[in-house]
Amino acid sequence: MTTASDNVKTRAAIIGCTGYTGYHLVDLLLRHPGAELTYLASHRAVLPDLRDEFPQLSGRLDDEVAQTRPIDFEAIAESADVAFLGLPHKAAMAYAPKLLDAGLRVIDLSADYRLSDQALYEEVYDVKHDDPRNLAEAVYGIPELFRKDLPGATLVANPGCYPTAAALAVAPLLSHSLVKTERIVINAASGVTGAGKSPKPSLHFPEANQAFGAYGVIGGHRHQPEIAQTLSRIAGHEVSPLFVPHLLPVDRGILETIYLEPHDPDVTEEELIDAFVDAYAGEPFVRLRESPPNIKHVVGTNFCDLSVRLTTQGDVKTVVVFAAEDNMIKGASGQAVQNMNAVFELDETAGLL
Ligand SMILES: NC(=O)c1ccc[n+]([C@@H]2O[C@H](COP(=O)([O-])OP(=O)(O)OC[C@H]3O[C@@H](n4cnc5c(N)ncnc54)[C@H](OP(=O)(O)O)[C@@H]3O)[C@@H](O)[C@H]2O)c1
Repeated sequence: MTTASDNVKTRAAIIGCTGYTGYHLVDLLLRHPGAELTYLASHRAVLPDLRDEFPQLSGRLDDEVAQTRPIDFEAIAESADVAFLGLPHKAAMAYAPKLLDAGLRVIDLSADYRLSDQALYEEVYDVKHDDPRNLAEAVYGIPELFRKDLPGATLVANPGCYPTAAALAVAPLLSHSLVKTERIVINAASGVTGAGKSPKPSLHFPEANQAFGAYGVIGGHRHQPEIAQTLSRIAGHEVSPLFVPHLLPVDRGILETIYLEPHDPDVTEEELIDAFVDAYAGEPFVRLRESPPNIKHVVGTNFCDLSVRLTTQGDVKTVVVFAAEDNMIKGASGQAVQNMNAVFELDETAGLL
């Protein structure tokens, strides 16, 4: 494995480069001082030049790299140290084992390796898991919470966009035992790019524009079990929050407002803030805000902005945490690059500030 001390660039391949997360991986890796983009792979019969898919990349990509190539595992392994998978679930687990067997590190942006319980994955995604061997080895990549798992990891499950914000927002309260875990309510909204580039009727401009509604409430959203898994891991016992996502008619950005009940009715707002300062002091990508954060201030960045408040109605106290992030950066491609940096022991902020 190359590391920062070797002073050579980490060579990166992307499979799924024509999608939204793929584009942002390209954009970030082109700015990365310690990484080199060497292989862009596509499954299409007619392989596109990525500059035709994303004209904003013209002038930034060499001809050789811009021309996408087939998903040839040996050729990718010869050209790259790490492969990013910006693919739908199910497609990712069809490729990951072959890439790992070819000696690559893999950072998977799909859901295929996020849920460590295979049966739960199969229930939630309604598909058989084809790669239980690697599922057992996958590391869940939120560096701020599970950093020690990352150096040298072979397969990183890059978290979902909603789960990243929820985990960062709730973790300090759980690790400091400040809140009850029976009733956590996560009210969340995401921009339309969260659903990917493939057209869907509900995402057409006339349907999504100037509209605002909840979805995935009946039957549950697929991110709920992932959020529950992370919160349970931090709490040390089962935690199953209520999660209500909404589709926000903006291109990008996630805002979550989370309601929790304090353990101690005499807890103060200062104690809550101290828990967040303790958890995130020195974390380059978590910003603690006095005022509730706004997606406008995080879009295009790898920051997750957090703010915590204690409210009182009569004798009922409620802890309210606000979290904002860019679904495609801290919620996907930025965090994937942050994970790559941690795996290869590079400066974790490289390419991201
Ligand atoms: N969008 C977000 O904000 C976000 C956030 C966190 C996580 N994620 C996850 O990241 C993954 C990618 O999301 P996205 O938004 O980038 O999706 P997307 O815009 O729909 O792009 C999907 C990519 O996968 C390729 N692809 C589809 N089926 C394939 C197959 N069988 N073999 C090879 N390539 C295939 C597509 O190629 P073609 O263009 O040729 O079809 C495209 O490049 C998903 O699992 C998603 O859940 C997305």
